[in-house]
Amino acid sequence: MTHPDLRMPDGFGRDAAGRLLVAGRPAEDWVAETGGTPLFLYDPAIVAAHVCRLRRALPAGVAVHYAIKANPFPPLLARMAALVDGFDVASGGELARALAAGLSPERISFAGPGKRDSDLEAAIQAGITLVVESAGEATRALAHAHRLGRRLRALLRVNPPFELRGSGLRMGGGARPFGVDADQAPGVLARLKDPAVDFLGFHVFAGAQNLDWAAIAEAQRATVALVAELAAHAPGPVRLVNLGGGFGVPYFPGDRPLDVEALGAALARTLADRPPPLRQSAFALELGRWLVAEAGVYLARILDRKTSGGELFLVTDGGLHHVLAGTGNFGTVVRRNWPLVNASRAGPPFETATVTGCLCTPLDRLAERLTIATGREGDLVALFLAGAYGRTASPEAFLGHPPPGERLAA
Ligand SMILES: Cc1ncc(COP(=O)(O)O)c(C=O)c1O
Repeated sequence: MTHPDLRMPDGFGRDAAGRLLVAGRPAEDWVAETGGTPLFLYDPAIVAAHVCRLRRALPAGVAVHYAIKANPFPPLLARMAALVDGFDVASGGELARALAAGLSPERISFAGPGKRDSDLEAAIQAGITLVVESAGEATRALAHAHRLGRRLRALLRVNPPFELRGSGLRMGGGARPFGVDADQAPGVLARLKDPAVDFLGFHVFAGAQNLDWAAIAEAQRATVALVAELAAHAPGPVRLVNLGGGFGVPYFPGDRPLDVEALGAALARTLADRPPPLRQSAFALELGRWLVAEAGVYLARILDRKTSGGELFLVTDGGLHHVLAGTGNFGTVVRRNWPLVNASRAGPPFETATVTGCLCTPLDRLAERLTIATGREGDLVALFLAGAYGRTASPEAFLGHPPPGERLAA
C-alpha cells in the first residue's frame, strides 16, 4: 500500500503525534483558533514559493499576472500584491474586490465575455485595462469612453485558430464565446483606431489545466506568430502580449506535475526568435490555479462512521457546497479522488473508506474508496489542492448549511 501522505503537496507535514501540520502548526490548532470546521486554510509561504520558482524559470522580463477568479480571498489578494505584476479580473464584482484590496488600476485587466454596461463603465472610470472580447463590446466600450471623456486602455482578445493540446478546459481553436476569431480581428482593430483608445496589444488564452509543458510551449509559439501577423492591423505598436496560461495542477493519482523549468526555457527560445513587430513588446502570463491551488487545504470533521453494503462511509461536515471541484463535479468527466488524508492521525492502521459531505445527494463525495488512516468520529480530514476554485466556485447556498471559514495560515 502506498502511504496516502505521499500525495500531499510540498509544504505540509506531520508532527510526532501524526497530526497534519499546516505552515508548521497542527491543523487542529488553526481550526480551534478560527472557530471550527469546515475551514479553508491557505499557506502564503507555499504561494510565494510557487511564484519564486516560476520567476526563476521564466525568461527575464516576462510578467506574471494572477487570475483572481482562482481565489479572490481578500487577505490572499493583499499577499499577492507583493508577489505578482498584474491581476486579471473576470467581472465587475472581482474588479471591485481588486480595487478594494488596494491594487493599483494599472496592474488590473478585465477579460471575460458578457460584460455589462456597468462593468465597462467601471473599468473605464477606474482606468484599468479592458480586454475587448467582441466587435460589439468594442463599440459599447468606445461609446462609454467618449461619453465619460476618458481613455479606454485596451487589449484585444483573439480566439486563436489553434487549441492548447490536451487541456482540461479548451478555450481556443474553433467556435468559442471568448475573444474575436483571428480572421475577424482586423475589423475590430480598425474600430479601435480612435483617439479615445490607448491600445496596448493582444490577449490570447487558449486553454487551462494542462500538465504538458511541450503543448503549452507550442501554443505560446503559435500565439507569438499569430500576434506578429495581426500587429500589421493594430492601431499602434504592440506594447503587450498576454500569452495566457494553461498551467495545470496534478489533481489525480499518476498526474505528473508541470515542468515549468522546461516551459520557461522553451519560452525563452520563442521570445529570442520573435518577429520584428514584437521586438519592443512586453510579455505576460496569466495564471490562476498553478499559483494558489497547492497552497490551500479544506478541513472538515468526521461526524459519522457507518457501513452500507459492505462499504465504509466517513460522513463529514463539509461537502460540495464548499468544494465543488474537489468532489469531481466541476468540469471533470470521470470522477477521481483529489489527495485527501486524515489530518488527526497518520496511520497505520489504514482502512478503505468513502468520505462524504453532509449533503443529501450522491454527488457529495470528497473521496471514493480511499485508503486513509482509520478515521474516528471527531477526526479532521484534509482535502488538498483546495486553494483554487474552492469557495467561490461552489454552490454555497445549496441546502442552507453554514458557510466555511477561510483564513491565511499566517
Ligand atoms: C481568461 C482567463 N484567464 C485566466 C484563467 C485562469 O485559469 P487557471 O486558473 O486554470 O490558471 C482563466 C480560466 O479559465 C481564463 O479564462
